[in-house]
Amino acid sequence: MKTTVTGPTQPAAARRTAPKPPNHVIVLFGATGDLAHRKLLPGLYQLAHVGLLPDGYRIIGSAPAQFAISDDDFRKLARKATQEFSGATIDEEKWRGFAERLSFAPADPDRPDPLVQAVQRAEKDIGGDVLRLYHLAIPPSAFTSMIGMLGATGLAKNARVIIEKPFGHDLESARKLNRVVHSVFKEDDVFRIDHFLGKESVDNILALRFANGLFEPVWNRSHIDYVQVDVPETLSIGSRGAFYEQTGAFRDMVVTHLFQVLGFVAMEPPTSLTARALTDEKVKVFEAMKPVNPARVVRGQYEGYRSEAGVAPDSDVETFVALEVGIDTWRWSGVPFYLRTGKSLAESRQVLTIGFKEPPRRMFQLEEGESFDPNELVIDFADPGSITAHFLAKVPGPTMELGPAHMTFKYGESFCSAVGLEAYQRLLHDAMIGDHTLFTRADGIERLWEISTPLLQQPPPVHPYAPGSWGPAAIHQLIAPYRWHLPEQEH
Ligand code: BG6
Repeated sequence: MKTTVTGPTQPAAARRTAPKPPNHVIVLFGATGDLAHRKLLPGLYQLAHVGLLPDGYRIIGSAPAQFAISDDDFRKLARKATQEFSGATIDEEKWRGFAERLSFAPADPDRPDPLVQAVQRAEKDIGGDVLRLYHLAIPPSAFTSMIGMLGATGLAKNARVIIEKPFGHDLESARKLNRVVHSVFKEDDVFRIDHFLGKESVDNILALRFANGLFEPVWNRSHIDYVQVDVPETLSIGSRGAFYEQTGAFRDMVVTHLFQVLGFVAMEPPTSLTARALTDEKVKVFEAMKPVNPARVVRGQYEGYRSEAGVAPDSDVETFVALEVGIDTWRWSGVPFYLRTGKSLAESRQVLTIGFKEPPRRMFQLEEGESFDPNELVIDFADPGSITAHFLAKVPGPTMELGPAHMTFKYGESFCSAVGLEAYQRLLHDAMIGDHTLFTRADGIERLWEISTPLLQQPPPVHPYAPGSWGPAAIHQLIAPYRWHLPEQEH
């Protein structure tokens, strides 16, 4: 049985106006790179398009001198990226206004002058008080020298910095990087980005839990049997072999995105929705997480990975990881949290599943060999996202026969979904208005590396898996007696 639930078409949320940020010079380090191309340049245009960039702004693309391009070439690059990835048609008049505020200035840590002059010029053009925002979309190995350069040249004054993931590669490197960052910027001016937190449907976990009397009373160990955060991806490593060899699926996806989602799922009700209160509660979850036990981790590598460009022929880097973690609190004690993610898998999905316990007494008799899936609340958080409740209902007829049923709420069919911002757009805007709610904090990140230490020190061997599958067979033993919600069964 299927029921689809949609929301109103005139949403309250859309009626609220997002604040316009104060005047800004935005510097994109890594402006010729993949992230700038796919997300940042299209995202900034989109913000300009919907009127959420400041009245006075300039965007300076930057990269090491060896990749320097002219202002015009940077505008062309931005146009191509926007056409390809913004998902919206370009409004020519708005584009002209946006493009004339774009320029390019090379920057190397030991030759910062062109950038310093470009920032000063941009500030003069805008006039009055201007904030600076630096987005470090560069390899993690370059963070330290770039931050040092910002400090040494005075560019860090009146400035905020957005730092891409992964933030460190273990506890020690994360601590060291935090020390470097804090030697130049105050924590309030640091925005460690995790774009999963900018997804509408991830934010909606907070709304679902704390705006409704329906869910929160059962959101605990008395009613919940298990939780799954499942993020399979069909894409392979492609041209990112060299990056992946340094990173692997655990560092790339789990210690960042999946743990952050888990933080939202597991947190206690915050005292308010301020950034501080929410982050405090999220960090408390991380504090209560048990160290990752390598015996409860399955690492996998897709067949063919070792022949990808930039990959060692005997690499044992994982392209897949599934693990169980526990949270030692009154609310969650004894509830297993299963996380899974990997490349070259059967589907690209981002799904959170809450599995509920059976009622205390089973008064509906099952036929011999008959079994039903447990009640599950399934939150698909790949934007636009959906929420589905899976439950049992009576099959019409003279006997008391049960059948699986579900009710679905779809974002894409509700709330004039066109008003939503893509994750990076949302987070860029939040950084400009100084809102830390959806960013990660130094202590939280360090704690996540700390609980990851046993796994990083003693990783279990990698199992090969066939591209297009759901990972190595060992994932079924890991989750037994439960089952992975994905792949979804058709009822
Ligand atoms: C990135 C990872 O942070 O997130 C990639 O480095 C991954 O490996 C990507 O593919 C997934 O994010 P999205 O935008 O598809 O939700």
